[in-house]
Amino acid sequence: MTKNYVSIGLQNPKTPVNVNGIMRASGCYQVDAVWYTGRRYELAARSGEAQYQVDTKKAAQRIPLNKVETLLSAVPEGTKIVCVDLVEGAIPLPEFDHPENAFYVFGPEDGTVEQDLIDKADAVVYVPTVGCMNLAASVNVLLYDRLAKSVQKGQQADFMGDQLIRRSRDNNNRMKVR
Ligand SMILES: C[S@@+](CC[C@H](N)C(=O)[O-])C[C@H]1O[C@@H](n2cnc3c(N)ncnc32)[C@H](O)[C@@H]1O
Repeated sequence: MTKNYVSIGLQNPKTPVNVNGIMRASGCYQVDAVWYTGRRYELAARSGEAQYQVDTKKAAQRIPLNKVETLLSAVPEGTKIVCVDLVEGAIPLPEFDHPENAFYVFGPEDGTVEQDLIDKADAVVYVPTVGCMNLAASVNVLLYDRLAKSVQKGQQADFMGDQLIRRSRDNNNRMKVR
């Protein structure tokens, strides 16, 4: 698989179930790092909401999840900032050409990516849904779109196939297409 650098920035996320879901997605789609701002996630995780453990593949043990004061301070050099939210003037995701190295910024469950970040973004995209998605769902959709477009560009030929299916599936899954 052609490996570029992909990181995710979460603006003041609220619920561990979303952050854990995003870590699981990050493992599945080979994200390199996840950054977040604000205190709400840690406080909620400490206060018992962590029982909603959806990162069953334990991606968080392999992918760094770190807090930063500002998401801009976490953008690696040579990486384009892509804000993902329902913002007027944004590019519909199906029409978007992903940068090789990207830092994708998502808003909180109960808010929107800050205008300041939108103003500094290299691109702003939205998914043309009727109503907004759940935060973790929107991360999954974004990462799938990136994967699908890299397949269209012929960048995943060696990566896809039964070997990957065998590696990725549950231990007790022996199903075949007959
Ligand atoms: C529950 S939404 C928050 C409300 C959203 N800002 C709004 O105005 O409807 C949580 C986050 O998921 C992402 N999101 C949800 N639906 C989206 C969509 N259709 N397009 C792009 N991003 C979306 C955004 O990053 C958003 O900040």
